[in-house]
Amino acid sequence: MEVYDSVKAALHNVCRPWQVALVSTSSKVMGKEKDNIIVLAWHTPLSHEPFLYGIAIGKTRFSCQLVRDAGCFVVNFIGPEHEKDAWFCGTHSGRTSDKFSATRFTREDSERLDSVRIKEAIAHLECEVVAEHEVGDHILFVGKVVHAGLKEQGDRLISFGGDRFGKA
Ligand SMILES: Cc1cc2nc3c(=O)[nH]c(=O)nc-3n(C[C@H](O)[C@H](O)[C@H](O)COP(=O)(O)O)c2cc1C
Repeated sequence: MEVYDSVKAALHNVCRPWQVALVSTSSKVMGKEKDNIIVLAWHTPLSHEPFLYGIAIGKTRFSCQLVRDAGCFVVNFIGPEHEKDAWFCGTHSGRTSDKFSATRFTREDSERLDSVRIKEAIAHLECEVVAEHEVGDHILFVGKVVHAGLKEQGDRLISFGGDRFGKA
């Protein structure tokens, strides 16, 4: 327990701020198409060539199953004007809510994937899952980036400082 507490303290006080990404997915749930958004602080580039991007999703999250079923995901980077919307997506589950209806995010078709992305995002990485690793209580999905879009430079991206959002 002591070790766990110090790890938690380190995560929230030392390894921050984290730049926040919103991952959108589309998959069939009980025969119905479901679009969802999860907020992630744990995400990272993994390789230049091929261009690989990693996301860590808790095993119990609804999005974990959606990404696994869909075999793809979109990493969306957003600006501070969407902090409230991001907070909603990071504190509510898609099991019980439609996050696109509940926020100011708009569904947009991806360029290369059968998955939605967030229209208001500053940048997108469209990824096909090429590997999945169990890492403790999270699953590390490794995505091959098949399309990258940048609407503006990334100096407005939001980050998370442990208990609140702020500018990265
Ligand atoms: C700032 C912030 C960062 C988060 N980072 C992660 C993360 O890296 N991995 C993860 O599994 N959940 C993370 N979460 C929690 C999920 O976003 C949250 O549990 C969400 O409601 C799950 O949605 P879902 O059930 O629709 O998949 C984060 C939440 C916040 C607010």
